[in-house]
Formats: sequence, structure tokens, C-alpha cells
Amino acid sequence: MERQARSHLADAGGQAALGMSGEERTGEAPPLGAENVFKRYGAVAALDGVSLVVRSGECLALVGESGSGKTTLLRCFNRLVDPDEGRVVVGGRDVMTLHPVELRRGIGYVPQDGGLLPHWRVGRNVELVPLLLGRPGAEQSANEALRIVGLDPTTFRDRWPRELSGGQRQRVAIARALAARPRVMLLDEPFGALDAITRAELQESFARLRAEREVGAFTSVLVTHDLREAFLLADRVAVLRRGRLEQMATPMDLIARPATAYVRALLERARITPADAAPNVARGAAPE
Ligand SMILES: Nc1ncnc2c1ncn2[C@@H]1O[C@H](COP(=O)(O)OP(=O)(O)O)[C@@H](O)[C@H]1O
Ligand SMILES: [Mg+2]
Repeated sequence: MERQARSHLADAGGQAALGMSGEERTGEAPPLGAENVFKRYGAVAALDGVSLVVRSGECLALVGESGSGKTTLLRCFNRLVDPDEGRVVVGGRDVMTLHPVELRRGIGYVPQDGGLLPHWRVGRNVELVPLLLGRPGAEQSANEALRIVGLDPTTFRDRWPRELSGGQRQRVAIARALAARPRVMLLDEPFGALDAITRAELQESFARLRAEREVGAFTSVLVTHDLREAFLLADRVAVLRRGRLEQMATPMDLIARPATAYVRALLERARITPADAAPNVARGAAPE
């Protein structure tokens, strides 16, 4: 089983692609990579030797039960967490060689709690990164990002975060991550705490965004504990368990060839069937 899991990593471009020279040569949108990454908190191994590569333009879903290391891994890509061991690569560059603040300005991040600044109005929250980057037309970019997530800027720009519903707050958090047109988006359970209808609406917006390339090609990592959401939105799914990567594969391959008993059980528990892995609007426009 171990060997099978490893071959899935190899299929995914595993070790060979970590140099990313091909991507650099062709000047494509920069991918993400983790190479044998370890992170410990006391006795807990939050990440226990994780290696993976996210392809340019791809959406990778990170799934796994609570405490499996999803958030920790995601935060390695924008240096909110620095690993104890291993290498993390963004855009072909080792993140340890990049200034954390500069790195973060180039990456859209939707933290698990949305992370809006409560004492700033919606407009200012969303404009923050384009402003920090010194981009002209920050207000316009913010308005456009609000429209993309289905919020009318004239109605919402001047509201305080506390004057929004949970779903609206989450939309603003996503708009904020989008406003600077990042090539990389990190989303930590962005649709997690929402009612079913709002969640479906936001999932659709995200899928449309990717399909229509409204904001240009972007590479994304989407953390979710909802396997169905992963199957709906992602090109590939990485299953984490106790800080280790059990398997990383397309939804179709995950169903056809679960690498471990754990992955098989996870799919069964979520009642995932081959129909759930059928091509959909989100994946229809995906690369390769
Ligand atoms: N800052 C921290 N201090 C101590 N323990 C942490 C910290 N961050 C994460 N952990 C622990 O690391 C493990 C993985 O956490 P996390 O990455 O947040 O998991 P997930 O997002 O999959 O729920 C958990 O056991 C968690 O308690
Ligand atoms: Mg988490």
C-alpha cells in the first residue's frame, strides 16, 4: 500500500517537479511545492514528512479529519508557519529566501475565521492588499472583487464586518483575497461555517471563477473537511492523516484506486460514488 501511495505522488509529479525549472522556463503561473516537510508542536507531529506539488492553475483540495495538519500545511505556503525540516516552494523559489510580508502580498489567503479587521469597513478590508502593493485603482479592484463574490459594492462597501451575516462576511473574506489578483490562493475551509444554501452559492461562485478565469489563471489550495466539496471543486485531492499524506490523486483515481484502507473508509463514510467524480463546471476548464 505504501508503494502504491508513493506511486500516486510520483504520478503527481512528486520529487521531479519540485525543481520547477520547467514552469520557470515556460513562464507559467507559479506552482507550489512541499518537500519532506515536518512541523512538530511539542509531542504532536502536525506535519510528518509531507511532499506534494500543486500544478499551475490547479485547485488542490486538502482533506482530512480535524487535527490532521491541513491548516498547518496551508500556512507553510505563506510562512505563517515555518517548518522544522523540509523545503516549501512558491513560484519556484524556496520560501525561506523570500520576505514573509512580500510573499504574503502575492498570495490570496482566506483564513479559517475569515480574518476581517473588525474596526475597518468592508471597502477598506478588501482594498488592503492592492493598496499595500501600491497598485493604482485599488478601490476599483475592491469593487470588482466584491461583485465577483455576489456583493453589490454600493450596498456593502461602507458596512462594518459586524453588520454582515456569516455568509456575507465569508464573501468579503474571499473578495479580499481576490482583490489583488493573486496567482496563488490559499483557502482554509472558506465555506465551512455556512448554511447549506449559502455554501452551495459560494461553491458555485468559486467554481465559476475558476472556469471563467475571471481573475486570470490562479493556483489554489482549498482546505476542507468535506469530501464532497473537495470532489466538487478540486482537480486533485490530497488526503492528510496525522500529518502524513495518505494519497493525492484526481477524484476519479481516488475512487478507482484508494491507496489505503483509510482512504477507502473515508470515501465510504462520505458515501462518495463514481458519479461524484464526473467532470463538472469547476474541473471542466482545468488544465490538462
Ligand atoms: N500553534 C500551535 N500550537 C500547538 N499545537 C498546534 C498549533 N497549530 C496546530 N497544532 C496542532 O497540530 C495538529 C494539526 O493542526 P491543524 O493543522 O490545525 O489541523 P487541521 O487544520 O487539519 O484541523 C493538531 O494536533 C493541532 O492541535
Ligand atoms: Mg484547520
